[in-house]
Amino acid sequence: MGFFDGLKRDTKQTQTVAAEPVPQNQNQPAPLAEEAAFREPDPEAIEVQVRDVEASYYAAPPTAPLKSYKDKAPVRHAIGQTKIIAIINQKGGVGKSTTAINLGAALGEMGKQVLLVDLDPQGNCSSGLGVEKSLIQRCIYDVLLNDVPIEDVIIPDIAEGLDIAPATINLAGAEVELVAEMARENRLKDAVGGMRGRYDFILIDCPPSLGLLTVNALVAADKLLIPIQCEFYALEGVTKLLDSMKRVKTRLNPTLDIYGILLTMFDSRTTLSKQVVDEVREYFGRLVFSTPIPRTVKLSEAPSFGQPITQYDPKGRGSLSYIELAKEVIARG
Ligand SMILES: Nc1ncnc2c1ncn2[C@@H]1O[C@H](COP(=O)(O)OP(=O)(O)OP(=O)(O)O)[C@@H](O)[C@H]1O
Ligand SMILES: [Mg+2]
Repeated sequence: MGFFDGLKRDTKQTQTVAAEPVPQNQNQPAPLAEEAAFREPDPEAIEVQVRDVEASYYAAPPTAPLKSYKDKAPVRHAIGQTKIIAIINQKGGVGKSTTAINLGAALGEMGKQVLLVDLDPQGNCSSGLGVEKSLIQRCIYDVLLNDVPIEDVIIPDIAEGLDIAPATINLAGAEVELVAEMARENRLKDAVGGMRGRYDFILIDCPPSLGLLTVNALVAADKLLIPIQCEFYALEGVTKLLDSMKRVKTRLNPTLDIYGILLTMFDSRTTLSKQVVDEVREYFGRLVFSTPIPRTVKLSEAPSFGQPITQYDPKGRGSLSYIELAKEVIARG
């Protein structure tokens, strides 16, 4: 059967109807099988199909513009209640962005008001929460370098209780451009400091480096949440991170401290994972959250659907573990 065989368009009713069987002339020999299979496509049918596709294309609603923070119903909390937590580890791929998205969403579902600041030029939190980057006119780069108020870049209610200050690839330039700026380490602190009292938690997703963006996060944050992946060399680089923390603490942010250590991508079937847990607990003691985040395929799939795990797979192990973590975070205060 050819593609158009058996289909005939009634153009007036724009309905697809089955073709009438063509009566065979008794005196003509029956067509060969290949001839029967290949028939010229009906140009009229093609034209109708093209018209239908075009009509549906133009009828499709344009992508909704991004919402603005100014449209958000004002939610006020007592000043001093807001906790600013940088999710930080200069090692790449340890679960920083996954934690920022899913801890943020879990806290939001538990009734907290959360702002997620995407401070990574990769913009994984923004894309992982379904932000259409082509629609972003200004991002956290403009807040750091062009004096744009953070309210002007925040996209509210990206998930329940969760707002995001998104990042685009423009942010990649910030690392170099900030060098020439005055008070370059304080840019983020000044921006998010103004949001104290409006959120319960401000989570900052850091890039995998110890450059100026990360220093901005260290200066802006009250506390650090350090994800550590349960694998070989888990603690590699952590000493360097703690050195950076101490230097910033001495000079720029005296109250900075570790909020908690989070074990990520834990696989209960491997002895390696268990060894890492023991090693990290021995090193950091009670700072380690009692909930390790398991390695699950669903957690790695969720960002491609633009959803936090609490929406993508609400009953799964990944979701339940981030909800447990959120409870610990709330309990730590
Ligand atoms: N618990 C988990 N189970 C399975 N896959 C995970 C888990 N956590 C993270 N991943 C996947 O591992 C990869 C790295 O995670 P993620 O992007 O959160 O790390 P990151 O520390 O933010 O990385 P980067 O340093 O590049 O910013 C991603 O593909 C993510 O989907
Ligand atoms: Mg990341």
